[in-house]
Amino acid sequence: MAGRDNRMRSIDPTRPDPATIAEAAAIIRSGGLVALPTETVYGLGADALRPAAVAEIFAVKRRPARNPVIVHVASQEQGQELTTDWPAFAALLASAFWPGPLTLVLPRGPQIPDVVTAGGPTVALRWPAHPVAEALIRAAGTPIAAPSANRSTELSPTTAAHVHRSLGADVDLILDAGPTLGGLESTVIDLSSPSPRLLRPGLLAISDIERVIGPVERQVTPARIDEVLPAPGMLSRHYAPRTPLECFETGDEAELRLGSLVAQAQRVAWVGFDPPNAPLSPKVTVRLPRDVAGYSAQLYATLHRLDELLLDRILLVLPPDSEDWLAVRDRLRRASTA
Ligand code: TXA
Ligand code: MG
Repeated sequence: MAGRDNRMRSIDPTRPDPATIAEAAAIIRSGGLVALPTETVYGLGADALRPAAVAEIFAVKRRPARNPVIVHVASQEQGQELTTDWPAFAALLASAFWPGPLTLVLPRGPQIPDVVTAGGPTVALRWPAHPVAEALIRAAGTPIAAPSANRSTELSPTTAAHVHRSLGADVDLILDAGPTLGGLESTVIDLSSPSPRLLRPGLLAISDIERVIGPVERQVTPARIDEVLPAPGMLSRHYAPRTPLECFETGDEAELRLGSLVAQAQRVAWVGFDPPNAPLSPKVTVRLPRDVAGYSAQLYATLHRLDELLLDRILLVLPPDSEDWLAVRDRLRRASTA
């Protein structure tokens, strides 16, 4: 890994240059790693059917072997070929939301290597809605395994620069198509048993999914990393900035904390819909949009940027505790200290 050529290529997000795609596809086919944009976050891609290539993803990310990765396809048919069962719910959801930020967990096909599924009986499948990702999957002629392109437990990358800062020289090629539009990971739904279960809230709202297939069971996530995991990879401490992040339900609580930190000469960032009213000011104030899509698109980029300022603490006033904010609040809970 070390000493590997470090390469970054600009690529048009809507009309990707075929020569650049061909170069990236050749790397995938020869077992290398390519960081690629999707509509959610950047992924660290490898040929999903080559165990050694997928093992390299785990090595570079320092990802625990028990945390399985998502396999990206570029058609429903290609997804269907990788599972032994394509239930009616899968057909309905794939028709409604693929390509898009929805990952379906289904019984794994025999061609899927153990390393992809962490040895488990299911495989996670997604057709990403990004012309660069789709072109690369098609040109490589193989499904692409890709977790988010960051070291394990760190914030997911929404720009190529984030990927470069986190993984740097350990990637063979980074395709830079600018900031991702969605900014938050896909929604993961388990369809491997008769009653659909939400494993990870994400960019696609659960209400949209339920409009198509009816009620979906909400998976309860563990509060601590050492609790028994209800599903592989559902680690609670995840998606975290380096700067300690504290989240508050109300601006008043956050302002009390702000006052005491500033009085101790701490350098604090404030993040919320509104700035604080407190007499003592934070070093930096970031206002995020009141709509879920706008907030999601900016959240990780904001935390990455604040991390670079090397502040003492980030205080964040949470968006409302309602279902449309489920994914945002899930990530913030995992990103926060204590
Ligand atoms: O938006 C996304 O989903 C991005 C882009 C790159 O597609 N990918 C992503 O991958 O977020 P990753 O590895 O960071 O998260 C994948 C999630 C993890 O929570 C993992 O545990 C779950 O999917 N997962 C993967 N395979 C699974 C399986 N067979 N059963 C249950 N959960 C699975
Ligand atoms: Mg990830």
